[in-house]
Amino acid sequence: MAGFVGRGGDNPGNMKNIVILISGSGSNMAAIVQRAQQERWETRLGARVAAVISNKADAQGLVFAKEQGIATALLNHKDYPSREAFDAALMQEIDRHAPALVVLAGFMRILTPGFVQHYAGRLLNIHPSLLPAFPGLRTHERAIEAGCKFAGATVHEVTAELDHGPILAQAVVPVLPNDTPDVLAARVLTQEHRIFPQAVADFLQRLG
Ligand code: GRF
Repeated sequence: MAGFVGRGGDNPGNMKNIVILISGSGSNMAAIVQRAQQERWETRLGARVAAVISNKADAQGLVFAKEQGIATALLNHKDYPSREAFDAALMQEIDRHAPALVVLAGFMRILTPGFVQHYAGRLLNIHPSLLPAFPGLRTHERAIEAGCKFAGATVHEVTAELDHGPILAQAVVPVLPNDTPDVLAARVLTQEHRIFPQAVADFLQRLG
């Protein structure tokens, strides 16, 4: 069962709606929301963050989104019998907002091919590695183990293959001698907050 924890669905002035999916702290989502406010995307780009949707009830990002007056929804994947059933419900919830762009911001789910196909060309993800290196999980640990001197983050369009798809932006950080995965993750996250809002703005600009 989808439990709605916010309201939304209207679209004043034919805005380009952005729907952001999260699973956790939502700091990338917050960075996008804050950039949208600072740069007045509504007037400059005709775009707004219309909704934030989480698959986890305890996602901290939901609190922030609600405080910002953004529509929020919670769909717990455990309430659905299959990945397909969850993705179908998620698509229905997303499509209430007729999004021009769907943003995966720390959304920790493998998506079905049907979902990816449905949003083809308007689905962006951020991944905490320099793709094509280290797709999947534990990216920082793996970069340290491999002896990498540099790590980073990648914003890319989502295609059927996990953590692949055209690269839109990357940021590079050094891996320092005593880095732990957590320390490296924090350094990379700072850069994520810089490149993801920019990549979203660039995408919206290209939409015209
Ligand atoms: C980020 O590092 C993102 O790249 C990864 O998960 C983390 C999510 O952080 N997929 P947040 O929820 O945006 O704070």
